[in-house]
Amino acid sequence: MTMGKKAQTKELKVSAIRNGTVIDHIQNEATFKVAEILRLGQEDDMVLVGMNLPSKKVGRKGLVKIEGRELTPREVNTIALIAPQATLNIIHEYRVIEKRRVELPARVEGIVRCFNPSCITNRQDVSTVFEVLAADPVRLRCTYCERVMSGADIALK
Ligand code: CTP
Ligand code: ZN
Repeated sequence: MTMGKKAQTKELKVSAIRNGTVIDHIQNEATFKVAEILRLGQEDDMVLVGMNLPSKKVGRKGLVKIEGRELTPREVNTIALIAPQATLNIIHEYRVIEKRRVELPARVEGIVRCFNPSCITNRQDVSTVFEVLAADPVRLRCTYCERVMSGADIALK
């Protein structure tokens, strides 16, 4: 063993993936929720999750990398609800071939529960429809009872 070995000063990063999806700039606290939405516990291929990573844009950020998977539009919408600043990177043969911010459609259908207990969507078999009033921070209005929800009121189904 050599004692004179130079200290490792270079920062270690979460390793690159070959093909798949990188969800970057996740608000730190939302990282595990993103993992849950994507059911990463049941994923067979390689999954890398980083938290408390330094970021110029969002302070400390979370990061999720999934080898061999593309997200469905519904998954992207759901991530946009809980991590509106996240970016999606599609990786092909180690290169970023697409980069975009997650985006909410004008209406969100069936993903979120209405916070109003007497709303018809909580009393009958009617799926929810929310109008997106603002994307960051997220504000939603129930098209049935008109309840406006934001922050902790927004619960996923
Ligand atoms: N990435 C990866 N595997 C690759 C290529 C990129 O995991 N083969 C990851 C990078 O680690 C980074 C994200 O995908 O988290 C986006 O890569 P890139 O655009 O190269 O990084 P930045 O320029 O830092 O991205 P941004 O400008 O969006 O912050
Ligand atoms: Zn409602």
